[in-house]
Amino acid sequence: MADLPESREHEALEKDFLGHLWPPFTQMQGLNPVIMDHARGAVVWDTEGNEYIDAFASLWTVNVGHGRQEIFDAIAEQTKKLAIYHIFQIANEPSSKLAAKVAGHMPGDLNHVFLTLGGGESVETAVKMARQYWRNKGQGTKYMVMFRDRSYHGTTMTSTSAQGLSMNRAKFEPLLPGFIKLGAPYCYRCMWGKTYGEDCKMECARQVEQEIAFYGPENVGTMLGETMIGTGGVIPPPPEYWPLVNEICKANDVLVINDEVITGFGRAGTWFGFEQFGSDPDLITLAKGLSSGYLPLGAVGAKDHVFEAFLGDPGKTFMSGATYNGHPLCSAAGIANLEIIEREKLVDRCAELGPCLQDGLATLLSHRIVGDVRGVGLVAGVEFVKDKATREWFAPAQGVAAKVRDEAFKRGVFVRLLGGGHVLAVAPPFIISTEQIDTVVSVLDESIAVVEQQLGI
Ligand SMILES: Cc1ncc(COP(=O)(O)O)c(C=O)c1O
Repeated sequence: MADLPESREHEALEKDFLGHLWPPFTQMQGLNPVIMDHARGAVVWDTEGNEYIDAFASLWTVNVGHGRQEIFDAIAEQTKKLAIYHIFQIANEPSSKLAAKVAGHMPGDLNHVFLTLGGGESVETAVKMARQYWRNKGQGTKYMVMFRDRSYHGTTMTSTSAQGLSMNRAKFEPLLPGFIKLGAPYCYRCMWGKTYGEDCKMECARQVEQEIAFYGPENVGTMLGETMIGTGGVIPPPPEYWPLVNEICKANDVLVINDEVITGFGRAGTWFGFEQFGSDPDLITLAKGLSSGYLPLGAVGAKDHVFEAFLGDPGKTFMSGATYNGHPLCSAAGIANLEIIEREKLVDRCAELGPCLQDGLATLLSHRIVGDVRGVGLVAGVEFVKDKATREWFAPAQGVAAKVRDEAFKRGVFVRLLGGGHVLAVAPPFIISTEQIDTVVSVLDESIAVVEQQLGI
């Protein structure tokens, strides 16, 4: 398209997109797409030359920032050497090195890494591992999996069966049997009507015990939960939650899978979210920050005792995997990405910049339509309400949070609408500057004021 003038190029791309591409989670009727063209650091430009701060790091993914030459080079070098070879009963260099590197960062006896191509596939794989683990141990009845309200684990059938947002699951019923829904540790809207620090007795964690007793510990084998609920509305759990859930699961011989697809590799200010939220998972799922999205990559991390349950008898072999698991190019991208995080100490940077983002966004609470601001490290959610006292949401048809998002977009800042349409999430690349964070906050402040004015508030 190099010989087309810019406006024609945009038109031609728009025609290709609208006529032929079927993108995920997108209503195509009436869509007027922005077409992204190039990006550097924490900034992205569209084909019409507009510039945006990428305050959601693509989809909480580009943690090291856009345009990293080291990653391009690592992929190019590996392409020349060995672009593709599978790892079914065979090895290649980059996937082995990547697994060792990831294992080196995982604490304790989380020493084993199964490579995938994304978050949903990691969750799919981890749940299958958990089910086969119990069979291998002669306890195959422990097939049931607990998950939580407001959870998001991807779009495979397993992830959908563990999906806590109704809009993402109802259309695909009947889903897989054996999934048990629990309440979320969502203090701002406690489903037990309790107030954290006052009459709360960790009912959300205690429910795990009740459901195991109800279905029988001989049938319940797995507890799956994002360490910090993300898509459901950026909901960090209270500090007591994961330690208590772990205690209950251990007492009942239930495996804990922490979904670390968002929190893995630094976003919460520690290498993994479960380290600061006091969890001790048997399995973790990883993606996004593992390659910062430069190539598709995910992983499952497993403790020694899980891995060892698959050793010996050929019948115990984990019978799952895909052509591209351990892909040399994706693995090379992952190694180069992790080297950047290590060399530039980006996990520490995330922890240091966290207060700047969180305190900045907390100032938005002065607006009448902002009910809650929460988060940790470089991930935060701003929840919109019609009434601060009752915490009543706006009617979805009013699209209030979406209007704020659109106003911010017009002013050159990308944030993401989630939490059932009531929360705006901010999760920038770790290399964002404090000046850019200040711009994100001031643009949101201005955008909220504009929407309040439109609402006559
Ligand atoms: C916690 C969590 N798990 C799993 C996924 C699915 O990852 P992917 O889109 O790579 O399949 C996501 C995606 O946002 C996620 O946030």
